[in-house]
Amino acid sequence: MTAPPPRVRKAVIPAAGLGTRFLPATKATPKEMLPIVDKPAIQYVVEEAVAAGLDDVLMVTGRGKRALEDHFDRNAELEAVLTGKGDTARLDLVRASTDLATVHYVRQGDPRGLGHAVLCAAPHVGAEPFAVLLGDNLIDPADPLLSSMTAVREELGGSVIALMDVGAEHINRYGCAAVESAGRDGLVRVTDLVEKPEAGEAPSALAVIGRYVLDPAVFEVLAKTEPGRGGEIQLTDALRTMARDPEIGGPVHAVVFTGHRYDTCYRGEYLRATVRLACRREDVGPEFRTWLQTFVARDLAA
Ligand code: G1P
Repeated sequence: MTAPPPRVRKAVIPAAGLGTRFLPATKATPKEMLPIVDKPAIQYVVEEAVAAGLDDVLMVTGRGKRALEDHFDRNAELEAVLTGKGDTARLDLVRASTDLATVHYVRQGDPRGLGHAVLCAAPHVGAEPFAVLLGDNLIDPADPLLSSMTAVREELGGSVIALMDVGAEHINRYGCAAVESAGRDGLVRVTDLVEKPEAGEAPSALAVIGRYVLDPAVFEVLAKTEPGRGGEIQLTDALRTMARDPEIGGPVHAVVFTGHRYDTCYRGEYLRATVRLACRREDVGPEFRTWLQTFVARDLAA
């Protein structure tokens, strides 16, 4: 009898990027710490991993990212002050990020690209399948994606990425996939990939949206992957090698996502994420929605 495939339990979150698309806010603050309503973007990502059953989280960080470690660590002084005041509601908020998951850290050292960042996770991940979540892609918590990807990996093996139709006009911002039918709704088989294709060279409008469930064979492939677009070692290029040759780490499938997702490194999408999530909140939501309706009807219509 063959052993059941190993469950996906580890998440890797690359967080070493400089965040230049969001200057000047990111001059001295890691982009992952920018709040959406009142919670740093990175906390939504860790919550997403935990919601999919992945509570071992490795962040790949770099210089100037100490705030990330502090955010997921205890803050004894703040806890003591809030305890002294009997402010249990805020105490719960302070503790929530600490208690969420076991968070480990490794530093990338040289910023040699996303593929290199993932390779830095190899000693921690070992020979298990694992997930990668990119912090600047926020998946709406109401539209679970990662758990459907881990389910595909557990059923079909290999690797699973998430794709979304972003339209031909935006595909040059992303990794882009050529796909064929996998015989069921919402799932496709990836046959090829290209990182940030030039206009007119994209095989589809399906973009890689920063969620991956990877077979550990990706580490060997990454170690041999030459620098690609932007002179960086690209995860997309390693996945292309795997998609073209299923002998290496099994097939590459993709879940085609149709829910809400925000690329929060672009200012317009960051604002949209903030408004949508604020409207849905039970505490600030009702008052904010009322204001927003008036603002749209009166101020914007004027
Ligand atoms: C990275 C990946 C790209 C993917 C994108 C999603 O690019 O290399 O394939 O589509 O994330 O946001 P980056 O945004 O880091 O340039």
